[in-house]
Amino acid sequence: MGKLPAILLCLTITLCPAIAEAAEPILIRFSHVVSDDTPKGRGALLFKRLVAERLAGKVEVQVYPNSSLFGDADELEALRTNQIQMLAPSLAKFEGYTKQLQVFDLPFLFDDLDAVNRFQKRATGRQLLRAMEDHGIVGLAFWHNGMKQLSANRPLRTPQDAHGLTFRIQPSAVLQAQFAAVGAHAVKLDFASTYKALQSGQVQGAENPWSNFYSQRFDQVQPYLTETNHGVIDYMLVSNPRFWYAIPHAIRTELEGIIEEVSHTVSREAEQLNREDRARILKAGTTQILELTTEQREAWRQAMRPVWQQFEEQIGSNIIKAAETVNRRRPATH
Ligand code: LMR
Repeated sequence: MGKLPAILLCLTITLCPAIAEAAEPILIRFSHVVSDDTPKGRGALLFKRLVAERLAGKVEVQVYPNSSLFGDADELEALRTNQIQMLAPSLAKFEGYTKQLQVFDLPFLFDDLDAVNRFQKRATGRQLLRAMEDHGIVGLAFWHNGMKQLSANRPLRTPQDAHGLTFRIQPSAVLQAQFAAVGAHAVKLDFASTYKALQSGQVQGAENPWSNFYSQRFDQVQPYLTETNHGVIDYMLVSNPRFWYAIPHAIRTELEGIIEEVSHTVSREAEQLNREDRARILKAGTTQILELTTEQREAWRQAMRPVWQQFEEQIGSNIIKAAETVNRRRPATH
């Protein structure tokens, strides 16, 4: 018998001495939807390696990349029912469990990844890790990917250029509103279906950081990519609280230490990997990379900015304000 049924039984009877006394290692199945050579993919493998080094015989991590075990449509339910024990979905994918995380989808809210980082480290950001515990999801850390760029089958320089196009989006009402704000349509599609949808013309545009564009080869089916940095794709590393808190304290503390180390590495290297993947796309020459002038970027910002108001009540104006303040440059002190 595999370990999974034992863990399920353990959850059913709510007491989990089985985990505490297990002679066999505790199994953590980590499922995700991107490829190994992305910030999240590398993070998952680093976590697996450090656990193998430091908790050999006590914990075993299995990583399932590329939606190979569960995909966008069913991975959170699989976590809640303990079929898998760890995930790192993009923050846009938690909409069904909390509206607060939608703050990360608001267009042009964060100036850059450093600002996102500051927000996640402050009290309001850290609080968001606990926002879904009642739904059987506990946040363990934030992981960066990067700022999003826009791709399409025609050059996008002004918001008007997007008019009438259909974009693939993650399952987020904010992202739907973001494209509606520029007169475009949006279709919520699993990450795993995106390449085919772009290739077949079902959708004509997409948004993602460079690393996802390159690793999924979206650049091969999108002739234009505009460097907008209009939003962010970041992740929350999550587990099932009933599984997580049943892990013996000493082992959990060690796991938390490893997670802190991995999170630091992922966040430190994400920007570099995105820069490298931008260069790879440029070199491949599959798509034309367009840079915006300050005025053009401002026009996109103005067009999409009303989305903030639309979602202020759902997200909470205090959360949006806390996020906004991380952009403010402090006056230099001499
Ligand atoms: C997407 O669906 O576009 C992203 O969330 C994929 C990912 O996990 O980076």
